[in-house]
Amino acid sequence: MGKNIMKKVFKAVRINDYIYWVGAIDWNIRDFHGYSTKRGTTYNAFLVLADKITLIDTVKEPFKNEMVSRISSIIDPGDISYIISNHSEMDHSGCMQEIIDTVNPEKVFASVMGVKTLSNHFHTINEIIAVKDNESISLGNMDVTFIETRMLHWPDSMFSYLPVDRLLFSNDAFGMHLASSERFTDEIDEYILKYECEKYFANIILPYSNLVLKLLEKVKTIGLEIDMIIPDHGPIWRNKEDIEKVLNYYAGWAEQKPGRKAVIIYDTMWQSTEKMAHAIAEGFIDNGVDVKLISLQKTHRSDAVKEILDCGALIAGSPTLNNNLFPTLADVMTYFKGLRPKNLIGAAFGSYGWSGEAVGQIEKFLTEMGVEIAGESISVQYVPDDDTLERCFDLGKTIAEKLKNM
Ligand code: FEO
Repeated sequence: MGKNIMKKVFKAVRINDYIYWVGAIDWNIRDFHGYSTKRGTTYNAFLVLADKITLIDTVKEPFKNEMVSRISSIIDPGDISYIISNHSEMDHSGCMQEIIDTVNPEKVFASVMGVKTLSNHFHTINEIIAVKDNESISLGNMDVTFIETRMLHWPDSMFSYLPVDRLLFSNDAFGMHLASSERFTDEIDEYILKYECEKYFANIILPYSNLVLKLLEKVKTIGLEIDMIIPDHGPIWRNKEDIEKVLNYYAGWAEQKPGRKAVIIYDTMWQSTEKMAHAIAEGFIDNGVDVKLISLQKTHRSDAVKEILDCGALIAGSPTLNNNLFPTLADVMTYFKGLRPKNLIGAAFGSYGWSGEAVGQIEKFLTEMGVEIAGESISVQYVPDDDTLERCFDLGKTIAEKLKNM
């Protein structure tokens, strides 16, 4: 597409009188560094038409022309005075160097860690101004205050806050992977919104739950008023009800109170481990506890971990293959361990032909994750008989009982 057609096709979207969305919609991405993004995503960037015209964040490199076209639909990109980088990960900064070269802004701002991280990525960026937590800069007719949010999602992450209209540019936090033509949460189906927001929290934010709780406490303590939460992925939370809702979601997910729900995750070679999984699930159902049975042949790790967020018990099952866990279990247990879910009880189960190491290896993963082993793990040679299936059923019942008393 020629430049003029690009401008006509890719337009900036008005957020308020002086804020415009100039990001990109990635309709077809299905794998975001190991996270299954079935509904695509957006890389949000925003233009603040203050006295000093400011671009907040950029987009993933292949989408640079889309962003520049959206900017060009309302201003000459050369009129941008300041660029703020809230986060150095390449989905927001992949074209940062090119944009700096194109726009030649007066100043570029990032957190102290952001300056280092951008420099480590581009090796040529050496004139970015480091801003500290709670520091403000003037855009002429309005200020921006920076709030350091280390590890949400990288050590360099920060929020930018516009006190004049209480707008919080929250980068990864409060975002979701959802490609849509709508830019605001109140325009999107409630079920999809909660599902994708929760999945995003489970896959990206969960390991930093303690920092989320501290951040929410800080927001309360300093009395930060928020009229819009403007993340860098997915839609914008713009009304009081929605803002309260997402803050409450985050508080609940970060607390990780054990829910009365069990997740049974497994893979199977000749259906022996699968038969055991079903019997354990029936034990939970029989004792009045919700259960999700997840076959790793049918479910991606990033969907599986979403189910962990509101559960209280994690039961994992694997056949033994060549003296080891089945590879899908090794994958998912490594993924779960890194995401550090808390307050879980659990057990292991599985089948084997002659050596049977898998169940012990799962127990080791569970223990390293801090999961309390709440029932005797079950390992069966070749095919479970009726007695073994009854033991599996009883294991489900026993753990269900413990869960009900937690
Ligand atoms: Fe959306 Fe951590 O980048």
